[in-house]
Amino acid sequence: MSYEAEYRRWRGDPAAYWQQAAAAIDWSSEPQTIFNPATGALGRWFEGGMLNTCHNALDRHLATRAEQDALIYDSAMTGEIRRYSYAELTDATARVAGMLVRQGVGAGDRVIIYMPMVPEAVMAMLACARIGAIHSVVFGGFAARELAIRIDDAKPSLLLTASCGLEPGRVVEYKPLVDRALELASHKPARCVVLQRPMAQASVIEGRDLDWEAALVDAQPHACVRVAATDPAYILYTSGTTGKPKGVVRDTGGHAVALAWSMSHIYDTGPGEVFWAASDIGWVVGHSYIVYAPLLVGATTVLFEGKPVGTPDAATFWRVVDRHRVKTLFTAPTAIRAIKREDAAGALLEQFDTSSLKALFLAGERADPDTVAWSADMLKVPVIDHWWQTETGWPIAANCLGIEQLPAKPGSAARPVPGYDVRILDETGQPLPPGTTGAVAIRLPLPPGCAPTLWHNEEGYHAAYLANFPGYYDTGDGGQIDEDGYVWVMGRTDDVINVAGHRLSTGEMEEVLAGHGDVAECAVIGVPDALKGEVPVGLVVLKQGRGDRDGALQAELVAAVRDQVGPVAAFKISIVVERLPKTRSGKILRKTLRQLAAGKPVQVPPTIDDPAILDEIRAILPVFDHAG
Ligand code: COA
Ligand code: AMP
Repeated sequence: MSYEAEYRRWRGDPAAYWQQAAAAIDWSSEPQTIFNPATGALGRWFEGGMLNTCHNALDRHLATRAEQDALIYDSAMTGEIRRYSYAELTDATARVAGMLVRQGVGAGDRVIIYMPMVPEAVMAMLACARIGAIHSVVFGGFAARELAIRIDDAKPSLLLTASCGLEPGRVVEYKPLVDRALELASHKPARCVVLQRPMAQASVIEGRDLDWEAALVDAQPHACVRVAATDPAYILYTSGTTGKPKGVVRDTGGHAVALAWSMSHIYDTGPGEVFWAASDIGWVVGHSYIVYAPLLVGATTVLFEGKPVGTPDAATFWRVVDRHRVKTLFTAPTAIRAIKREDAAGALLEQFDTSSLKALFLAGERADPDTVAWSADMLKVPVIDHWWQTETGWPIAANCLGIEQLPAKPGSAARPVPGYDVRILDETGQPLPPGTTGAVAIRLPLPPGCAPTLWHNEEGYHAAYLANFPGYYDTGDGGQIDEDGYVWVMGRTDDVINVAGHRLSTGEMEEVLAGHGDVAECAVIGVPDALKGEVPVGLVVLKQGRGDRDGALQAELVAAVRDQVGPVAAFKISIVVERLPKTRSGKILRKTLRQLAAGKPVQVPPTIDDPAILDEIRAILPVFDHAG
C-alpha cells in the first residue's frame, strides 16, 4: 500500500473511507449516517449508531483472547508487576462499574478520576465507558485549585481518587489535595471513593468518603449499556490561552473508530502485540494509547509508573521493553533527552534485549533532530515523530508505519494522516506556498475522533478554533509544509507552552503571579530548556515601593505557582523588571519577550509603545538557549 494512494482514497470519498474503518468496531445499532455536516459547529460522525466502548475494548475479545494479557502494570516506583488477562480486566472493570452504579452514577453523569498510574485508574475509566458515564481524568501533578476548577466545570456526581501518587523521593498524598479542592469548589459531588495504597493512609470523611475495597465488596458486575455514537465518552481539560482550562469533549463512536484505525495504520500494532505509551493517564496520550486504542484492537498495553531516569536508572525504559517484549514504544522527546543525558553512549541500553522493539514514536512537543538521530542510532528502529493534540485525540501528521514507511526527515512530523487536510495559512487565512511559515490549520471537516465541542461551551469552541480562519480548524501551532508535503510544526503561536511534554497555559501562571500583593503586572513566557524543551519564566513589575527582599519574593512566587497550578508547571524563575514592552493599546508583547529570552533576532513590532524598553529588558534578561 502506498501512502499517496491511501491518502487519495480517503480524499476521494471520506464517508466511504470511515464507513469501512467503522467495520472494525462492534455496533449494537449501525450508524444511520456516516457524517452529518449539519449538526453542530463541526458536523457529527456516525449519527444513529449505538455501541459500547468498554465492550469493544474488553468483552468482545473474550471469545478469542480471554487468557492473553490485556494490561501489564509495571511500577518502577515500587517494583510491583501485575498482569491482567482480558478475562480478569473485564471482570474487575465490570465490578467497578457495578460499584459506580451502586453509588448512583448513571449514563451521562460525570465522574472525576484523580488517580495515579495504577490499574484501578484504568478500570475506573473503562467502567465509566461501560455504563455510559463521562469520565474526566485530572493529572496528579495539578494542584487543588486546578482540580477545583475542573470539578466546578464538569459537575461530577462522584470523585474517584487514591491515597497517594509516587514521585521520586516523595509520596504525594492526594487526599489532602482532594479535600482542599472540594472546599474550594462550589459544586460538591455526593461521594468520593478512595483507593488506599500501602504507602499512605488517606483520612476518610464520614458520610462522604468511601473506601474503594469496601465499596467493591458487594458490588455486582455490571453489563455494558448501549451508548449513542454522538454521546460524550469523556471530558479532558487542557490548557488554553486564558486562565481557564478547556473541557475537550470526545464523542463515543468517532473515538472508537479513529483509535482502532490508528493502531493498524499509524502504529502498525495489532492483536496480541505489546504497546507501551510511556505517558500518564491524565494526558490525552494516556487516554488514547495507554487505555483505549491498544485494548480496542486486542493488543496488550503497559501501564508504567515511574520516570525515564532515576527510577532507578536511565535503563528503566529498556528494562520494561525487554521484560514485556514491547513492540511499539511511545514517549515524549524530553524523556529520551533525559535518558541520553545519563547514558549517551548507550552502555545501560546494551545490557538489555530490546530486539522486540520495532518502532519508537515521539510526540507531545517538537522532536529535535538530535534526539531523533540519537534514538535511531541507539535503538536501530524507525523513530517516528508525530504531531497531534488533545483536541484531535489521535495523530494529525505522522509517518504511518502501517501504510508505508516514508523516508524520514528529522525535525518534521512527516505527512498528514488520512482524514486530515493540513494547510498553512497567513494571518488573513490565505493558503501559503510550500516552504513558507504560517499558522497550521486543518480544513474542515475534521475526521472522526476529533473533539466536536467543549463541555457546555460551544461558543468557546468556535472562538478558540473556528473563528480565526473560516472553513478551517486553527491548531494554534505555527509551521510549514515543504515541497514534499512534509509538515514541520515549530511551536505554538499562542500563550500555551510545552514543558517536558506537558501542555501548560502561561495565562494561568500569570493569574497566580498577579495575585501576589507586591506584583503590579507580569508576563510569563516559555524559554528554551535543554531537557524540558521549554520552561516558564515570569517577568514581574513590582508595585511602587516594593522590592525583591533578598530573593524572598522569588521564593514566594515559585511557591504560589506550585501551590495553585501544581508542581508540573515547573515554574522556578522569576525576574523583576522595571517595565514590560507593550503596544500603544496596552497589550504586553509576549512574542517579543520570547525572542529576547531565546537570544533570537527581535522583530520590533510597529505597534510598540516605547522601543527603548527592549534594550532595558535585554540588559536584565539572561539568554536561555538549548545549552541550558
Ligand atoms: N503527581 C505529582 N507531582 C508530579 C506528577 C504527578 N503525577 N508528575 C510530575 N510531578 C512533579 C514532579 O515531581 C516535579 O516536582 P519537583 O519540582 O518537586 O521535582 C515536577 O512535577 C515536574 O515534573 P516533571 O515534568 O516530571 O519533571 P522532572 O524533573 O521530575 O522529570 C523528565 C523530567 C523529563 C524525566 C519528565 O518530565 C518526564 O518523564 N517527561 C515525560 C513527559 C511525558 O511523558 N509527557 C506526556 C506526553 S507524551
Ligand atoms: P497536547 O494537547 O498536550 O497533546 O499538546 C499539543 C501540542 O503539543 C501541540 O499543539 C503542539 O504544540 C505540541 N506538539 C505535540 N506533538 C508535537 C510534535 N510532534 N511536533 C511539534 N509539536 C508537537
